[in-house]
Formats: sequence, C-alpha cells, structure tokens
Amino acid sequence: MDKYEIRTIVLTGFTLAIFIVAILKSMFTYATGIPECIPYDESFTEPRIEKLDEKLYQVFALAQMWSFEPHEIRLPVGAEVDFYLTSKDVVHGFHINEVSLNMMAVPGGINKETVTFKKPGVYKIICHEYCGSGHQHMMGEIIVNYPTN
Ligand code: CUA
Repeated sequence: MDKYEIRTIVLTGFTLAIFIVAILKSMFTYATGIPECIPYDESFTEPRIEKLDEKLYQVFALAQMWSFEPHEIRLPVGAEVDFYLTSKDVVHGFHINEVSLNMMAVPGGINKETVTFKKPGVYKIICHEYCGSGHQHMMGEIIVNYPTN
C-alpha cells in the first residue's frame, strides 16, 4: 500500500474518533433529548405551561412574528420539560444555548424535545432562523429557581 494511502486512512480514522468522542461528550454533558416530529393537532397551538408533577412539565410554545408565547417560563431547578413547538406564521428558530436545545418552529408541524434544567439561572430563548424585519428582537426567557417553600 502506498504510504500516502496509509496516512490518509490513519488521518481519517483519527478525525472520525474525534467526532465520535465529541458526540458522546455532548450526549452526557447536556440532558437534552433527540428532537421528534409529532403529528399536528390544533391543541398544540394554544400556548401554555402544564405541570404534571413536582419536576415534570410540558411547555406548549408558539412562535410568531416576532415573539414566543409563553414569553416567560418559570421552573424549579431540576425540572424536566417536554417542549412542544409550532409556529403561527413562518419558520422560526427556538434555541437555548446553555442546554444545547435547537429546534425549528414550523407552521403546521409540531417539534418536541425534552430538556432538564439542572442549574438555576435565566435562560434566553432566541430565534435563530431569519423570519423577517423583527427577527433580531425575537426572544423569550426561562427563569429557573430553587423552590421557595
Ligand atoms: Cu423568528 Cu427569527
């Protein structure tokens, strides 16, 4: 075998190993699930937060030009949240950097992803798909606190 072929194979293997390690590391670092597309239903377009038990929540999020509803979401530390996301008008983004959540809000479609908020803090939701003249102002907020009682 040619020495350049061997070098190429070794380099490819090394690069592949780096990618696999990076994917495994992100899986264990962030408690973020794999996004799912679920069948469309009108009930998902009603923005709301539902508490199933002490740590289990469902957020039905609606993106529209140029805001997210619910605009402010308050959760306790350790909350496990199923986000159900759709859009009223055009394609929007739904990105929370600290928990590595990255979804698209598509009119007529529902995207779902589960996230656990392990640390207290203010998490910004930003739209990261260009959606018109107000795109840069499209933000929401998740406030994660220790329970007061
Ligand atoms: Cu919505 Cu950009």
